[in-house]
Formats: sequence, C-alpha cells, structure tokens
Amino acid sequence: MPNSLEKRFPNAKNIARTSISVLPTPVQKVCAGNDFSLWIKRDDLTSADYGGNKIRKLEYLFGDAKKTAKTEVWTVGAIGSHHVLATCIHAQNLGFKSAALHFPQPITEHVRTNIKALSTTHPKLHLIGHKTGLPKALFKVKLKEWLSTEPQVYYIPGGGSSAMGTLGYVNAALELCDQIDEGHLPCPDEVYVAAGTCGTLAGLTLGFAMAGKKIKTIGVRVVEKFVSNIPLACRLANQTSDILRAHHVDAPKLKHADFHIINDAFGAGYGLPTDEGMKCVQAYKNIVKLEPTYTAKTVAAMHRFAKPNLNILYWHTLSGADLSKRVQRADLSNLPDTYLDFFEDSQ
Ligand SMILES: Cc1ncc(COP(=O)(O)O)c(C=O)c1O
Repeated sequence: MPNSLEKRFPNAKNIARTSISVLPTPVQKVCAGNDFSLWIKRDDLTSADYGGNKIRKLEYLFGDAKKTAKTEVWTVGAIGSHHVLATCIHAQNLGFKSAALHFPQPITEHVRTNIKALSTTHPKLHLIGHKTGLPKALFKVKLKEWLSTEPQVYYIPGGGSSAMGTLGYVNAALELCDQIDEGHLPCPDEVYVAAGTCGTLAGLTLGFAMAGKKIKTIGVRVVEKFVSNIPLACRLANQTSDILRAHHVDAPKLKHADFHIINDAFGAGYGLPTDEGMKCVQAYKNIVKLEPTYTAKTVAAMHRFAKPNLNILYWHTLSGADLSKRVQRADLSNLPDTYLDFFEDSQ
C-alpha cells in the first residue's frame, strides 16, 4: 500500500521501505481544560508490537538495510532508550540480528521495564561507563563501518535520525495533511513535539513545507543542546530533502529560520523529571500515557507556551504497546553482568 508520501509524490515509491506500522494513526480531539483547542496525533499506535515515533523511521531504515543486503543492525542510545528497544524488537520480527551501544541514564521503573523487554530480543549489548565515553565508542563502531570489517552490518544512528530515517516523518507530516484535507481536524496553527535527535522535528517541518501548509512545528528540547539544536535539525532536513530530490521528488531546502525549538523545558538533565512535567503525567493519565523524559516535558511546554484561541496539535511519540507479556518473558541472564546492577534494589 502506498503511504501518504508516495500518494502525493509517486516517485517516492522508488525509495526502499519495509512496512512495519499501522498507518494512518488517528487524530483525537481532547478537552484538557486549556484555552486553546487541542488535538493529539496518536503515534503511540503505530505498532502493537512496539510503536511510538521510532517505527516510522525504522520503516525506511530497515528498507535500506534490506536493499543493501545487510543482516545485522547496530544502534546506540541511553540504557532505557525507546529507540534501541524499538529497533531490536522490529529487527527480531524481520529476521535481523541486532546490537546496541548503551550509555547510562537515571534508572526509573520505566527504564527497567525497557531493559527487561529488550532482554527478550537477544541483542549484543555493550554499556559504556559514562556518556563522555560515547564519542570514542562510536568512533570505533564507525571505523568498523568505514573499513568494512563488518560488511553485514547496517548502522542506525541514535534515535534513528539519519536522513533516511527522517523520511518517516516527512511521510507523517503528509499523513496529517491528508487528515486535514479529509476534514478530520482543522489545520493546526502549531504542532508541539519532543526534540531529541531531531529527526521527528526535521521530518515534520520538511513534510509540512512540501505540502505548502503553514504549520509552525515546535520542538521541545528534552536532551542536551549539543544533540538537539536548530542547525542540526536544519541540516538533517536538508539531507533528507537531498534524498527526495535524488528520487525526483520536489522537496525544498529549508533555512534555520524555518525551525523552532523551546529550550527551557529540559530541567536539570536528560531523564530527570520536572515538576511541571510530572503534573502533566497526572493530568493526562486518562487521555494518553506520558513518561517523564520526553512526552511529559513536551506537554508541559505546550501548556506554558501555546497561545489562547489557537488550534494546537500535540504529536504523541511514546509507544502505547503493552509490554507486560514481553516483560514476563524477560530473562536477565541474557544481559551482560553489568546490567544486573540496575535491578539490585528492585526485586
Ligand atoms: C518517546 C520519545 N519521544 C520523542 C523522542 C525524540 O525523537 P527524535 O529523536 O526524533 O527527536 C524520542 C527519542 O528517543 C522518544 O523516545
């Protein structure tokens, strides 16, 4: 089935893609007691196995990996990373082997659940002691790629945010435009979305520009600034635009001024909850499930910055898949010994 990008731009069918998601995801009108009108784009529902925003990127990344005859995917992320979990679950479903380079983050129940779920996918795991060791560890991975010592490996950068992965959110933006054109919602004035590695923000901004829709996409920065910033988002969008143009799809070049990032909802650090975020977790508990690291901070920023009388859309990026059965099957003995420390006080 063609996706929204391929329907509008048939040449995009020549870009490899492996379908692993259930699209389009619904949009929901919400009464959350605000003075703006609020809709939620439910990307929590992209897959029953494991959904959220990563799945849209992985469709293109696995497509590219298959096209280039790779059999193993390697990626990187924090120890509770949704991206690493999404990659390993869908890699297993598609018959790829997987490996991940992990770095530490504050340990919460949510993080422990993700590690347990990850253990069911049998990835090769390597944990570095501190985030500062990441450049060296990543360099080693890149060196293997450059020297082609592991020709079977497809390397997926953190958050799945390569130009290829970002195509998934160009498609997502065009999917929302279809829903607007079909009358499911009015055209939002502003879209709020979590900004980590910025692939989601870059893809949405590019996709709305391709559709000629005047929608201001606002990324809420939830990671350190050196990872998440406007020059980086703009460069990623333009690399994605290059892929599209190489396939004869009309995509514009964007400027820094086309991007918007809110910097002051981050709090004390990556993975550390903020008070305003935790209030939103409570306030939204009957609407969608928020977690402290990404989605709670994003919703809190939206409530702080969205102006009255506007049509606002919150793009929900957290997987809504039920992991309980997978967690029951968890086998911590599949994990390297160093990971057991994270469970010491939780039994
Ligand atoms: C739930 C959730 N939302 C948003 C993001 C950020 O997306 P991106 O890395 O594309 O900026 C992530 C990244 O890991 C995530 O797990």
